[in-house]
This record gives sequence, structure tokens and C-alpha cells, in this order.
Amino acid sequence: MMRIWLGILSVLVIGCINPEKESKKEPIKIEVSKEDPHSYSRPNEAKVVRLNWQAKLNFESKTINATATWNFENNNADRIVFDVKDIEVLAVTDNQENPLKFEVTSPKEYIGSALVVKITPTTDVVNIEYKTSPNSAALQWLSDNQTADKTHPFLFTQSQAILARTWIPCQDSPGIRFSYKAKLEVPKGLMAVMSAENPTQKSENGIYTFKMNQPIPSYLMAMAVGNFEYIKIGNQTGVYAEPSMIKKSEYEFADMQKMVDAASELYGDYDWEQFDMIILPPSFPFGGMENPRITFATPTIIAGDRSLTALVAHELAHSWSGNLVTNANWNDFWLNEGFTVYFERRIMERLYGKDYAEMLALLGYQDLQLTLQDLNESPNDTKLKLNLKDRDPDDGMSDIAYEKGYFFLRLCEETLGREAFDNFLNNYFKENKFKTTTTETFVEQLKMSFSENPDFDKVNYQEWIYEPGLPSNCPQPQSEKFIDVEKTIKYFVDGKKANNLNTQEWTTHEWLHFLRHLPIDLTLDQLTELDEAFGFTNSGNAEILAAWFMNTIPKSYTPAEQPLDSFLVNVGRRKFLTPLYKALKNSNYGLEKAQSIYEKARPNYHAVSVETMDELLNYSPS
Ligand code: BES
Ligand code: ZN
Repeated sequence: MMRIWLGILSVLVIGCINPEKESKKEPIKIEVSKEDPHSYSRPNEAKVVRLNWQAKLNFESKTINATATWNFENNNADRIVFDVKDIEVLAVTDNQENPLKFEVTSPKEYIGSALVVKITPTTDVVNIEYKTSPNSAALQWLSDNQTADKTHPFLFTQSQAILARTWIPCQDSPGIRFSYKAKLEVPKGLMAVMSAENPTQKSENGIYTFKMNQPIPSYLMAMAVGNFEYIKIGNQTGVYAEPSMIKKSEYEFADMQKMVDAASELYGDYDWEQFDMIILPPSFPFGGMENPRITFATPTIIAGDRSLTALVAHELAHSWSGNLVTNANWNDFWLNEGFTVYFERRIMERLYGKDYAEMLALLGYQDLQLTLQDLNESPNDTKLKLNLKDRDPDDGMSDIAYEKGYFFLRLCEETLGREAFDNFLNNYFKENKFKTTTTETFVEQLKMSFSENPDFDKVNYQEWIYEPGLPSNCPQPQSEKFIDVEKTIKYFVDGKKANNLNTQEWTTHEWLHFLRHLPIDLTLDQLTELDEAFGFTNSGNAEILAAWFMNTIPKSYTPAEQPLDSFLVNVGRRKFLTPLYKALKNSNYGLEKAQSIYEKARPNYHAVSVETMDELLNYSPS
């Protein structure tokens, strides 16, 4: 009773001392835009064209203090709308430094808030002064210990799909492009790079400037800061890595320039001048990210034998599909990824031959089958054209876009002829460069080129794009090498000794096929025999190791327990984490074991992986 009275009293008191309260107007409401269900921005009213970003990094507080100066096209508007999340907007001014009124709407899960700035029809510049938060999801601030060399801290960003808004107030939609300049102040002794023209050496004073002249969408904004070095590989190519990784990286990526040359021969000039890679610390949540001029990559592709470089071809291919011709919003994600996987395998075929590319395609086909099984209960997510409205785009992005997309384009190639389809793709990249495409505009262009072709109907694009599942005319890749692998498994199962199996010529891809197809009823003795013969548990190849663990987990194979533990604690690449934690959860080790490893590993992961694993493992902070 007492409490209630106190409550009422305090309402009265606050009401009295806060005379503004009554006059305070309703907070504005704004829905996401029609063009893009994951952005509040209103490009039809006012659309950004240029950014000047000035920022100071603070590793102690894990924050960035920055000013984003945006130039924009003003279509007679009285407001410009940006996306922000976990950002504190401190002030907004016009080009005369006059303060402008602004409001930040109340945050919504994963989408964040709209930052609505009041302008006049002649305003074409705003300066936004702001500060990021330690929770800003794009940013991962690593301590010395979480890097390869353990000597300096590291920061990297991951903006795709909708995380750019957590470090820069922006119109965070892939359909909106802008060029940018930046000036960064970082602790002395660290190097900084962005998706822009980059330094190759450390600066004395920790100040770096950047320029990206070509217009890019916000999800390609990227930055990395740490103790790394640069080595040039070819005339347009090179690699950044921490000192202990730089030589290995140089060796691994020796063919980078050849890849750029092959890609340009296939689909037209490389429009970004430079193509570098940076090897990030192991927590990077993806294999690679196609940031223009500098692909961000996981160290888990450094296998020592150049066997995982399809990833380089993939990120390079995005320089056309994705970075040059961009999906209008995330419902058309397959236009980015499906085209890129197709292009990646064409590059690999050109460099290493058809047999090699077919192994990649078959492994992709297996991934696709698993994804289709996983998505059995959500058939809509197995369509190429997605509907991600009211969902976190991250939840709808799966291998479907990659592999179903790939097989659809391969079907187009096989049905319409490689030469004709290559011509079409060349034109597609040329005509749409620095623009966005939707599934519908792609279909229009495809029809324009091929509807006269008597075989065009056989492609059946309607079913491929707008229906769930995998159509029955899906191309079937062929690989003699994999048939040999299957025979080898059979010999082993029939009693041939592991040491006597004929595996001398095998590459990583054959080993992956082998490990993915070992029978589930293998005994512990058989696992031990394989491990002794081939040293899987001690493999330095992350793909092989992860595929091996998928066999050892269900059998509680003890020698692999410690290595699995340290793999999960060190590596933050989500593609490995998800299946491994799932397998643990479903094994005799059980959820508790999975949770106890996760407890240790979680502080090392980037927010993107944390988000997924928290849900998978019912994590609640203790
Ligand atoms: N752009 C993607 C990564 C991505 C997708 C980030 C969606 C955020 C949201 C990148 O090009 C990619 O596809 N990476 C793959 C590697 C590739 C060889 C299939 C990955 O990270 O595994
Ligand atoms: Zn990709």
C-alpha cells in the first residue's frame, strides 16, 4: 500500500517539476521503406551521394568518435532519413555549422532506429557528430591475446547485411550508392585499411586518409586496424597480414593476379584498380567478405598448400556480381551470391581445369542438399527470390542463394550455350555497372536475350526463382575423382587397411568428399585406424579438421576432444561453428558440453556468430 502511494506521489511531483512534460510532442513514427524492408531511408526524398568520414578510435573504451559529413541530392524534401543502431548522435549541423533539428526513433530489434534530420529544400549537406557503442555489432575489438601474434590489439568491421548502421549513420540499403573519403586517427604503431585506396606502410602519427572514388553501397563500408604488414603479389594484387602470417599468406595467394586476369577475360574489365586481401584474426565470422579493393578473409583458408583459394576467386568475382551490379535489397541476395558462385567456379575452371571445378560444384551440391533438408519446415526460404520483410535478413540468407543460384545459372549455361550465356553475362555486367538489379529486371534482361531461343522454355526460370525446393532439371556435376573416393571408402569398409588405401594423389577436395561420406556405423577402432594413417586430428587444414570432427563427435572419439575444444575456442567462422555445436548438442556429449565450450569461446566471437550461437545453444548470460 505504502509503495502505491509513493508511486502516485512521485508521478505528481515529477509532473509538477517537469512542466515541459505535457507540451512534449509525440515521438515521430516511421516505417521501413517500400524499396527496402530493412532500411528507414527515403531516397526519393533525399539520397546520399558522398561521405566524408572523420573518426578517432578508442581501444580502451571500444568506441569510435566520428563525424559523418553527407552530401546528398535533395528532392525538395524537408527531412533526410538515415539508419542508426547502437550509435549515440551528438549533434547535427548544416554546411554552415548551424545546428539542425533531429530525432532518433525508438530502436527496433535488428533494424535499429531512424535518424530523421530536419532540412530545407536547399540543404544538401549534413554533418552528423556521433559516438559508437561497445555493443555496435559490426565492430569487433580484439585484445592482443585474440590476434595471431598476441602483441597488439585489432579492430575489424563486418557491415553486410545491415550492420553498417552500427558504426556509421547511413542510408543502409544496398540500392543506395555513394563515394567516400575518410580520415582516421588510430593508436600509434597500428596500421589502418578501409574499402578504399590503402596505405601499404604504417604512418608515424597514427593518422590515415582514404579515398573511394567509385560509388558503393553502405554494406561495403569496411575498416581494419591492427599490427599488419603488406606484401605485393602481382601488379594489382597483394596481401595484408600480421607478421607471423604474412609469408604464409604470400605463398597461399601466389595465383591472385592470375585470378584477376582470368576474371577480367571472362566478364570484362576489373573496375576497382587494386585487389588486395587482408587476413584477419581467427574470430572473423565469415570465410571472406568482398570489401572493394580489399577482401577481408579468415585465416582458416591458409592451408599451406593453396587448396582453399576458391574463396579468393569467390570474393574477387563479387567485384562484378555484388560490388558492381548490386542486389537492390536483401530479397534479391541470390543475385549477389548465386552469380558469384557461378563466376567463382568459372575462374577456378580456367585456372585449374574442369576436374577441379567439378569437385567444387559437387561439394556445393552436397551443401545444397543439406540446406534443403534443414529448411524442410520453411519451404519459403528455399526460393531464390526471398521475402525477408519483418525478419532479420541474416536469418534468411542460406546456401540456397549460393548453390541453388549457382545451379540455376549453370542450367542457363548448359541450355543456352556457354558462349551465348557468357555474352549475356558480359552485357549484364556492362549495362548494370554501378547500379542495382532486382530479380525481375534480371529476368527481363534474360528474356530479351533468349526468348527467341527454342530451348529457353526448358530453363523454366519461373520454377527456379519463385518456387521452393530444387527443380528436377538441376544439372548434375560429374567427377571421376569423387567416384574413386567412394570406391576407396568401400574398400576400407570391406576390410582393406587404411594404410593400404590409394590416397596419395588426393587433394583437400577428395579428402572432404571422403570425410563427408564415411558411413555412420564406423567403429571406434576404424576411426582410430583412419586417424593413425592420415593424421586427421592434427590436420592444419581447417576444412578437413571440421569435416573430421563431424565424424568424431557422434562417436565420442576421445583423442579429438581437446583439438575440437581449442578449434571452437579459437575459430569464430560461423560456417564451422554451427554444424559443430549442433553435432555436439545432438551427441552423447549433449547440450551441456556444448554450452560449457561455448562459455569459454563466446568472448572470442564476433557479434554475428554470437547471435547465431546464443540461439542455437539457448545461451543466457549467467
Ligand atoms: N558476402 C559474403 C559473406 C556474407 C554474406 C556476409 C551474407 C554477410 C551476409 C561472402 O562473399 C561469402 O559468400 N563468403 C563465404 C565464402 C564463399 C567461398 C562461399 C563464406 O564466408 O563462407
Ligand atoms: Zn559471396
